Amino acid sequence: MSQASPCWIATAGRPLRGTLDIPGDKSVSHRAVMFAALADGTSTIDGFLEGEDTRATAAIFARLGVRIQTPSPSRRIVHGVGVDGLKAADGPLDCGNAGTGMRLLAGLLAAQPFDSVLVGDESLSRRPMRRVTGPLARMGARIDTEPDGTPPLRIHGGQTLHGIDYVLPVASAQVKSAILLAGLYAQGTTSVTEPHPTRDYTERMLAAFGVDIEFSPGFARLRGGQRLRATDVAVPADFSSAAFFLVAASIVPGSELRLRQVGLNPRRTGLLQALRLMGADIREENAGEHGGEPVADLVVRYAPLRGIEVPVELAPDMIDEFPALFAAAACAEGPTVVRGAAELRVKESDRLAAMATGLRTLGLRVDETPDGATIHPGALGGGTIESHADHRSAMAFAVAAQRAAGEVRIRDVANVATSFPGFDRLAAGCGFGLRGEG
Ligand code: S3P
Repeated sequence: MSQASPCWIATAGRPLRGTLDIPGDKSVSHRAVMFAALADGTSTIDGFLEGEDTRATAAIFARLGVRIQTPSPSRRIVHGVGVDGLKAADGPLDCGNAGTGMRLLAGLLAAQPFDSVLVGDESLSRRPMRRVTGPLARMGARIDTEPDGTPPLRIHGGQTLHGIDYVLPVASAQVKSAILLAGLYAQGTTSVTEPHPTRDYTERMLAAFGVDIEFSPGFARLRGGQRLRATDVAVPADFSSAAFFLVAASIVPGSELRLRQVGLNPRRTGLLQALRLMGADIREENAGEHGGEPVADLVVRYAPLRGIEVPVELAPDMIDEFPALFAAAACAEGPTVVRGAAELRVKESDRLAAMATGLRTLGLRVDETPDGATIHPGALGGGTIESHADHRSAMAFAVAAQRAAGEVRIRDVANVATSFPGFDRLAAGCGFGLRGEG
């Protein structure tokens, strides 16, 4: 598979300039299509991310008997079938690269009267699933994994679920969401308590779909047996995708970018705080609300960055942004220390290893620890980098390369389309040195 996957050639480009529209939020898009499918009535989703991950989720609901129309790109009209209206699919359901898709669906499908099998691509097939199947089993679900706890997930339907009060051992919005979705079908009440608050899109969106759900940072509780009422969803621009441009403009002298109306849910914007601690010049303008989420234009200008100890408590709020942070740290003055980020080892790839190895290839010293790394900045050279089929690592190296003296060849970039289709065109259009090869 990796042989057929294209490469990028990234080199230092021009100062980055322009006004950019970043595609829709991945987390919100997954949930919007799921909840609209389960609702009574028809919902319209605007700003839906046309990425492979979110399209895989929409395709799964189509196979479960939900009619979903695409009147124009980034818009979906979902004809909900109600919480009891899904139909068995005629074979395995392919979640592609998407951990969010698979883990949330595990909770939902565990509660259906029919059996389902969830499969994923090479990367997803290596990811830990016991973190969801464990608590779901305590609710009465029956899900088989491979002996090492990885997919495929073989879900035996027709079980009677009961509510639980679950204290999450790791901060994970995916696990929390899977339990809440199963809880919608369970007898009694289900609650989830988190060691650190994670993104709360499931809670906010279930409430918008008419579910009576109680939630506060780090806690959520709902009663089983409720129905969802169709509602329209406006998806904000994805902060995690914007992150690459925030870092790129911060490290390339002479840059100024405006990223329009980016989602600024506080559980997502840890990188903004970390970059500001490093000395980044990022302003928020035209603040407002989009689909119930805070949004603003982010105006970022080049500024010399200094290395920091990233506050451990920021880690869950920037869990998807560490690859971008590593690129910023590579170009700062003085070392940057990351701790409390062991979860990065079980993302689409082992992101701590992938980023450390890649930056070493470009000439830096990076000391890796089990839950973090110290990045010693320096002059970046060229070289060939393995993205390990990880979209965020690929984009992070395209960003770092904007300060490299040599040519950076980034292998295996096809998966960028899972979260940010068109990243290379948008990046090249605003000044990145970036072109495809193969
Ligand atoms: C997500 C939750 C996070 C995040 C992922 C999307 C979600 O994963 O890393 O990209 O949409 O709920 P965890 O739940 O594993 O922390």
